[in-house]
Amino acid sequence: MTSISPADPSVPVLSPVDGRWSGQAEHDSLAARNCRLTPGEWLTVKVRRSEVPAGGDVYQAFQVPYQKWMRVLDALNWIAENAAADLAFRWFCGSKMCGTCAVRMNGREVLACWEAVEPNMVIEPLRNLPVIRDLVVDRSRYEDKVASLEPWIERREPYGEFPEPLTHKQMKDASKALDCISCMCCYSACPVIGLGNLTDFAGPAPLVQLGQTALDPRNDPEKVRRSLALTGIFDCVSCYKCEEVCPAHIPIVSRVIEPLKAKAAQLVPEMARHSFALRGIVARRGRVDPGELILRVQGLRALGNLRRILRLFARGKINPIKTILGIKTGAAEAAMRLLGNRAGRP
Ligand code: SF4
Ligand code: SF4
Ligand code: FES
Repeated sequence: MTSISPADPSVPVLSPVDGRWSGQAEHDSLAARNCRLTPGEWLTVKVRRSEVPAGGDVYQAFQVPYQKWMRVLDALNWIAENAAADLAFRWFCGSKMCGTCAVRMNGREVLACWEAVEPNMVIEPLRNLPVIRDLVVDRSRYEDKVASLEPWIERREPYGEFPEPLTHKQMKDASKALDCISCMCCYSACPVIGLGNLTDFAGPAPLVQLGQTALDPRNDPEKVRRSLALTGIFDCVSCYKCEEVCPAHIPIVSRVIEPLKAKAAQLVPEMARHSFALRGIVARRGRVDPGELILRVQGLRALGNLRRILRLFARGKINPIKTILGIKTGAAEAAMRLLGNRAGRP
């Protein structure tokens, strides 16, 4: 092995607030990335450390010699063996199975054991979870949430026959969720989870775990209702950030969260108040009226916050005259045809 300078003075060590290295990942193929580097070439790897003698968080820079087919995990192992024996990071299977090695590389969630190295890398722990040390995060928030959702199947009806026949169509959504390796990449990428205690949203990873059984047609609807009531699922804004980073390529939004939302609207309709109100308004008036939407969701409580109402009015977000008169647009007829009878209810 070539010798290494763990904190080469020619390589700047960045402060935690310095965002220069947190750019977007390059999205070319693995083969292309491996061809950009030649064996022996030096990689610059900046790792976020949580314990340094000076105190506080810093990014420590390392120079690592490239080896053919090198993954991020190989670079971390090289650093631990040759330059910083106290570097903390997790991995187990080394083959995209256990989900323990997830980190952020150049601002994107990746599996360290699966992601090809880049010439310049910034490696950080996952977001939205407390850091225990360096790249190791505390997963108990996720594990506790999953346990509270009781992601298992309960039967009320006896088996018709055994084994019970299930069609592919019946299992198509649950089977996608079963590919989850609990890596938490999606949880780290979710902007709603990033809001912290402002919402009670369970987050994409616990929802995928729940989807494995809640979308199974054998599960008892009452049991599914109980679980869904704890998810805050309608706080999901369908931004697809979770799907973008899922290493198991699970269509998290379209095949797990949206089907779960549909189930929640049916089994726990009070959770979907906002969605039903929005659909009802669009069906009747052919447009979204934020004023009416706020009134329908919050009721007269909304009028208590006069300052907010004035701010929305000043910005042109609400128009009380149109709301009071229920003015329709030319699209109202078509909207009613499309949403018609189902408007405003599950
Ligand atoms: S689609 Fe929903 S769960 Fe996924 S990242 Fe966006 S808000 Fe989070
Ligand atoms: S859904 Fe995908 S990103 Fe989220 S925990 Fe499972 S495998 Fe990881
Ligand atoms: S080490 Fe198991 S998924 Fe990466």
